[in-house]
Amino acid sequence: MSDSLNAPEAPQPGDHAGHADHHPGVSVRHTRAKGEPRFPDGPKADPAGSHFERRIRSFQPRRSRVTAGQADALQRLWPKWGLDIDGQRVVDLAELFGNDNPVVLEIGFGMGEATAQMAGGDPGTNILAVDVHTPGQGNLLNLADQNGLSNLRVGNGDAIILLREMLAPDALDGLRVYFPDPWPKKRHHKRRLIQPEFLSLAATRLKPGAVVHCATDWEPYAEQMLEVLTAHPDFENTQDDGGFAPRPEFRPLTRFEGQGLDKGHVVNDLLFRRVLR
Ligand SMILES: C[S@@+](CC[C@H](N)C(=O)[O-])C[C@H]1O[C@@H](n2cnc3c(N)ncnc32)[C@H](O)[C@@H]1O
Repeated sequence: MSDSLNAPEAPQPGDHAGHADHHPGVSVRHTRAKGEPRFPDGPKADPAGSHFERRIRSFQPRRSRVTAGQADALQRLWPKWGLDIDGQRVVDLAELFGNDNPVVLEIGFGMGEATAQMAGGDPGTNILAVDVHTPGQGNLLNLADQNGLSNLRVGNGDAIILLREMLAPDALDGLRVYFPDPWPKKRHHKRRLIQPEFLSLAATRLKPGAVVHCATDWEPYAEQMLEVLTAHPDFENTQDDGGFAPRPEFRPLTRFEGQGLDKGHVVNDLLFRRVLR
């Protein structure tokens, strides 16, 4: 599931550009004029520019229906809690969150329910949650607002650009990647996020000792994660037996995980620590 936010979108039934005078959760017909941004005060469409570079992406273009409640949250809360990943500056995380607390990056929060739950359960940790999925961004902003979560910021765009262009070395105290798109077909394996090159980039942005936490319900991908993380010189397994980790209590069941479990899939967690070479 994802939304590439490429090029201006043609009006879609269910899109809504302005403040909602409708009921949250109800999809409404879009009335935006040609050329008018989808959310004038909200996340930018394709913040880094679709031609920022030619690169295989880990998400797929997807048209997304935004409910009136999500549109309202995007308009109202984006200026306060949103971060467009435009690749144009290095972000001062203490300034972004208004404090010096540890910062964990979550890549691909989907609809954000698990993210909001983790932010609520650990107010001393700041969570920078990133996805390209517009309805999810609106949903997570709503959850942050309803639950008074001041330790959560929502990033819009490709996490690779955030890591590479917008985060300083050793900026992060942790990285979470829960149920990344599995790309099951062999010809799509190159799109999988957890690869040696990605880990090398992530390692530069993680403090020594910071933990990368991955989870997946796709067993071949879990095996690949274990293999590349184990082989990577910047990471070591937190598990003495060198295998998968028990699910930590702080990680709630996610939406994708629930769908995987319904299909009988086996879920694996991986917890690896960044080490100094
Ligand atoms: C399969 S969904 C899982 C969502 C959520 N973690 C869950 O378990 O319900 C994977 C998500 O990762 C996002 N994603 C994939 N690659 C990304 C990237 N490079 N930057 C930001 N988000 C990405 C997709 O848009 C999608 O929402």
